[in-house]
Amino acid sequence: MRMVSPSLLSADFGNLQRDIEMLNGSECDWLHVDVMDGIFVPNISFGQPVVRHIKKHSQKPLDVHLMIMDPGRYVQDFRDAGADILTVHYEACTHLDRVLHAIKDAGMKAGVVLNPATSVCLLEDSVQLCDLVLLMSVNPGFGGQKFIENTYSKVRQLRELCNRKAPLCLIEVDGGVNLQNAPLLYEAGADVLVAGNAVFKSDDPVATIHQMKL
Ligand code: DX5
Ligand code: ZN
Repeated sequence: MRMVSPSLLSADFGNLQRDIEMLNGSECDWLHVDVMDGIFVPNISFGQPVVRHIKKHSQKPLDVHLMIMDPGRYVQDFRDAGADILTVHYEACTHLDRVLHAIKDAGMKAGVVLNPATSVCLLEDSVQLCDLVLLMSVNPGFGGQKFIENTYSKVRQLRELCNRKAPLCLIEVDGGVNLQNAPLLYEAGADVLVAGNAVFKSDDPVATIHQMKL
């Protein structure tokens, strides 16, 4: 599967509705929505009220990436705000099993995110609970960072783990994705690519999304 989830972190926040409508008319599959708390990551982005507005204008499923400590506290809130897919960081959950069940019970697809230094083998006992696993290919917190090359090997390891334990689980990659590394990531086994700057800083975002899926 070759899917693209553009990250709204790189959109024009003063013209969010315009940018979402542009994405509605593109071949993108999901909208990637980055929520940051200033504690788990150094940056603060936005919370549920903004997600609710994004939902109002979007015709695509919302892929909400929570970069917040103890995300289990906010599962229902983000469901109510319009999240379709909710991903939580392995590093931010004490009781990951419980949080993944809570996300599914609330009616969303559930995903775990691994930071670049967190090993894929730690998912051995939780991947079967996941609809997707998101591998960070930068340290989370900011758009526009440089892609970490070790990600290819992590995608291959995760593909092997999914084949063994969770064949339906999707593999998503987030951070520094562009038109050059996208084909290599799909070949390594990724299903969904998040792209912020590569889409929004390009001259023709709709065409860039199209090319990324080729
Ligand atoms: C980073 C966020 C990413 C970011 C990606 O912490 O999780 O989703 O917006 O932006 P680019 O594609 O510009 O690296
Ligand atoms: Zn993200």
